[in-house]
Amino acid sequence: MKVGIVGAGMVGSAAGYALALRGGASEIVLVDRSLAFARAQAEDISHAVPFAHPCRVLAGEYGALEGADMVILAAGVAQKAGESRLSLLSRNADVFAQVIAGVRNAAPDAILLVASNPVDIMTDVAQRISGLPAARVIGSGTILDSARFRSLIAGHLGIAPQSVHAYVLGEHGDSEVLAWASARAASQPVERFAAQVGAAITQDVRDRIDDGVRRAAYRIIEGKGATWYGIGAGLARIVQAVGGDQRSVLSVSIVTPEVEGVSDVALSLPRVVGREGVIATLRPELSGTESDALRRSAEMLKDTASRL
Ligand code: LAC
Repeated sequence: MKVGIVGAGMVGSAAGYALALRGGASEIVLVDRSLAFARAQAEDISHAVPFAHPCRVLAGEYGALEGADMVILAAGVAQKAGESRLSLLSRNADVFAQVIAGVRNAAPDAILLVASNPVDIMTDVAQRISGLPAARVIGSGTILDSARFRSLIAGHLGIAPQSVHAYVLGEHGDSEVLAWASARAASQPVERFAAQVGAAITQDVRDRIDDGVRRAAYRIIEGKGATWYGIGAGLARIVQAVGGDQRSVLSVSIVTPEVEGVSDVALSLPRVVGREGVIATLRPELSGTESDALRRSAEMLKDTASRL
């Protein structure tokens, strides 16, 4: 599968590196406003390939994206310390107008994978500008938040994250919703599993895990200026689900016809992801509180997108 990455900065290059190590792409093409920088990133990533899977890693202008099956949109500015993801919107919406025109000319059939924040609004922008079906304009959404959620629950229970199914829904941002009501460990509700291993999920535990998920990016940005490894791996995971037609259930963002009474809004729900993009959307069991929080998240995103 040929994968383009527009924006060879920390997130885009981390995605390319993760994809090269994971496999799933036969060719990766980096595009950046600085061709020299894209070339340097591509050459650096290509030196990891001999330790991983066969894959050509190149750099070029938009024309080099010709024939790409997917294009990751990682161009734009990133959060600074203390800055919310939503505050990046006006700057990144302007960047997308040019980026998507270039991508569509070179690779009109490519599925778009949006990484730039605020990712849900940027997914909405990308879908509107590209005119592609919503199912083929996927935002990384809360795939990383759900991974953080699963890891923290698993750590508390003393088991592998792979044995926990739990999703973060709504905005990839401050209004996101940790869906505790549908969280499962080894097919049991996490509270039930916790009781069996003597690791009760008290309110303090919930609060600690909520903070660990919701504030993760802010903490990391305080310490090193940006996040890139987690999101890079999350993007590679989505590419692999598409490339391998895996029909994996991932919490990703697409423009969704209706969420908790809010129409046509891009946010994350558990989705079945395969070769054609998003194949189905699932509606997880939610408590009343979680349902109200998801509606507020959807309303905020819809209102923000409508003011563009
Ligand atoms: C984070 C960025 C990708 O949550 O928004 O790390």
